[in-house]
Amino acid sequence: MDKTFALFGCGKAGISVSLALKSAGWTVAGCGSRGLASAEAGAEWLACPVLRIPEELPPGIPLMLGVPEQALPEVDHEIASRDEAIQGRVIFHLSGAVPSRVLTRCRIKGAKVGSLHPLMILPDPLSGALALRSATFAVEGRPEALAVIRAMALAISGKCIALSPHSKVLYHAAAVTAANHLVALLWESQALLARAGVRPEEALPAFQSLVEGTVKNVYSAGPVASLTGPVERGDIGMVRNHLSALKRWPQSRERYRVMALAAVALARHRHPERSLDYDALEKLLS
Ligand SMILES: NC(=O)c1ccc[n+]([C@@H]2O[C@H](COP(=O)([O-])OP(=O)(O)OC[C@H]3O[C@@H](n4cnc5c(N)ncnc54)[C@H](OP(=O)(O)O)[C@@H]3O)[C@@H](O)[C@H]2O)c1
Repeated sequence: MDKTFALFGCGKAGISVSLALKSAGWTVAGCGSRGLASAEAGAEWLACPVLRIPEELPPGIPLMLGVPEQALPEVDHEIASRDEAIQGRVIFHLSGAVPSRVLTRCRIKGAKVGSLHPLMILPDPLSGALALRSATFAVEGRPEALAVIRAMALAISGKCIALSPHSKVLYHAAAVTAANHLVALLWESQALLARAGVRPEEALPAFQSLVEGTVKNVYSAGPVASLTGPVERGDIGMVRNHLSALKRWPQSRERYRVMALAAVALARHRHPERSLDYDALEKLLS
């Protein structure tokens, strides 16, 4: 396989992934963007020429789209109407939230569309490219596109999961739950601790070892074996006390209730023989 590609959309993700690919032996034929300034900045990062895309794209070169989700329909339209060598070209975007079929017009014109989503936060090109070496990539799309983007993912980190177009949104909800909702949960726990009288600047570090130890356990033993605490023990009195202590803060009480129900569902997997205890807990929490 010819390891050459071009980039359109010289933002954080596009440049990070392109830099990581360069380090892994791929060549960037050129890059373009909406504005000349960001295309020139991208070209400097990647040591490649600025290209007018799609007019100056060489035939047969895969095109990576590093543009935001909301710009994909417009970019799809622009490329489909101006790329004269679109037939058979692999064109893929980097979004985790939308499937490759968002590139409808390119697909109709004969492009092989796909998506390559790095499961990583890419705040800037340099730290992004470094972080990508340990990232998992989710790939989805036409078989011809999959062959290229899977090779890219394997070259960067060796870690790749395949998705169907229908499961893309569900996959994104899972990633949001793992990353964004975890942040919201820690913020909630910090707020509860502050209400318990712990100063805000002490509240977050107070739970650091507990949280890090829990995450470590989940990744060594799995979530089912890692669940501890009153729900897992079926301690209905303790959960009732928690709900009662949270009465003054109805929103926090509601969030606690929803998460405790999730913990009950998990506890059932751990101790199927204790279903009566968990039924009682579920009744209290529902
Ligand atoms: N950053 C991350 O952590 C991360 C991680 C994984 C996946 N992603 C995905 O990567 C994609 C890009 O995200 P990003 O964080 O790299 O965004 P970004 O930093 O805002 O960069 C987007 C780039 O797209 C360019 N662009 C070209 N045509 C555009 C148009 N019509 N409208 C708007 N922008 C246009 C912009 O160019 P100009 O500068 O010339 O305006 C900008 O450089 C998104 O789908 C995102 O979900 C991002």
